[in-house]
Amino acid sequence: MIKTVATTPFEGQRPGTSGLRKKVPVFQTPHYVENFVQSVFDSLAGFAGKTLVLGGDGRYFNRETVQTVLKMAAASGFGRVVVGQGGILSTPAASHVIRKRGAFGGLILSASHNPGGPDGDFGIKYNIGNGGPAPEAITEAIFAHTRSIREYRIAEAPDCDLDRLGETSLAGMVVEVIDPVADYQALMETLFDFTAIRALFAGGFTMRFDAMSAVTGPYAHAILEGALGAAPGTVMNGTPLPDFGGHHPDPNLVHAKHLYDLAMSEAAPDLCAASDGDGDRNLIIGRGQFVTPSDSVAMLAANAHLAPGYAAGLAGIARSMPTSAAADRVAQALGIASFETPTGWKFFGNLLDAGLATICGEESAGTGSNHVREKDGLWAVLLWLNILAVRKQSVAEIVREHWARYGRNYYSRHDYEEVPADGANALMQALRDGLAALVGRHAIVAADDFAYHDPVDGSLSEHQGIRVLFGDGARIVYRLSGTGTAGATLRVYLERYEPDPSQHAIDTQAALAKLIVLAEELAGIARHTGRSAPSVIT
Ligand code: G1P
Ligand code: ZN
Repeated sequence: MIKTVATTPFEGQRPGTSGLRKKVPVFQTPHYVENFVQSVFDSLAGFAGKTLVLGGDGRYFNRETVQTVLKMAAASGFGRVVVGQGGILSTPAASHVIRKRGAFGGLILSASHNPGGPDGDFGIKYNIGNGGPAPEAITEAIFAHTRSIREYRIAEAPDCDLDRLGETSLAGMVVEVIDPVADYQALMETLFDFTAIRALFAGGFTMRFDAMSAVTGPYAHAILEGALGAAPGTVMNGTPLPDFGGHHPDPNLVHAKHLYDLAMSEAAPDLCAASDGDGDRNLIIGRGQFVTPSDSVAMLAANAHLAPGYAAGLAGIARSMPTSAAADRVAQALGIASFETPTGWKFFGNLLDAGLATICGEESAGTGSNHVREKDGLWAVLLWLNILAVRKQSVAEIVREHWARYGRNYYSRHDYEEVPADGANALMQALRDGLAALVGRHAIVAADDFAYHDPVDGSLSEHQGIRVLFGDGARIVYRLSGTGTAGATLRVYLERYEPDPSQHAIDTQAALAKLIVLAEELAGIARHTGRSAPSVIT
């Protein structure tokens, strides 16, 4: 029985950088999930009888939403929904399943690295048939539907058993519950030299991987401790919990500080790594050596040919605009193209589909390749392991050799979280209005509001952040977060290029001190936000 339910629009159901994200109680508002899901379906055409992939990071409200989506997908005419057991699929695994099954698209339930639990965050993101996040044309169409929605359709049926593998029927639609790890693991085995990595571990290499009580636990247990033979206990916090154990599943130096401290201690393993709530981000710290995400993209790209999946070389390297230019220098040395895209993984999709880029990365701990259409935390860890296994050097040695060859891009991001939106918008507007006047002052050679012309589909994305560029390769970038759920978050990205190896051991904040002062002077951060210091420095 299909029921049609009358509803009225909710304000603010516009998908942000990565889908619709709100507090759990907002999603729990009657009809809230249904309105959004119906708006997604209403903005798509031609999916009758086709397959939808569905899964999430296991956070609070995941299971309930999976049931709702299943009943609505049946009511809207999908032929099959492939859902991860327990409603679990990491974001990169979902992307892979969409591609492998030739699915019409997928819905991923996650708020990434944001906290979970009854007062935490929840999110819904639609991915298209290439496995990647829906492009802006679709997310804007979804938003338009959310503003005019009058009714939604849902099957009246009992809940599905999400824990039993196999197929069942729901109002004429097939529900197929799959092992969330198997397909993903098989894909990793095609990309990396598992034999070499197994030998690395057998030779005494030690590692700690923190799954942060989030989705990568089952993947890491199966791949690292299972297939690769890492010692039991290598994976910590390996059971997904609805509230992530009360932690913030964000693998950065604030929320994974214990890993940093371990890596810097006498007891440091050879490699410390972590992933976030939904498994698409990564943190890499060698013994005594933190690797910034921007550097990690560059170093992975420079060494990717050491892994079987990339032995033929890379087509190009793409990075988001605020990500440091370290990757550009590698692309230049390899004689391949480099691309600078707006923030958000969705902008890499066209480049990957068109075969223009092979490796992509963002400063926000996201790295990935053409194997899926999302960033992929475990993939980055496995590529590092493959490189370490082949080069037989430590992370620290590889980092130092990289800097010596390409120069070092000192880099940091200063976040001012949950500031008043009015102040943050006024700050951005004042910068925009004053762009032309900046050039020539303080050795600024260019200043703009970044706009991206997609080279594949010709689309234009404007207002993607203010760039202030200096003659020596230094940059300050200002932009407002598109993933926050309260107030506004101002992100200030600082970068300075240092070619001289004798200057490569300076503390990052000290190396950027002059730019930090200038960033305040140019934007009046304290005046506009009422904050004299950032809330998070990464
Ligand atoms: C943040 C990151 C961005 C990433 C996104 C989704 O978006 O900065 O690189 O793609 O999360 O993980 P923001 O909050 O800055 O809009
Ligand atoms: Zn994430």
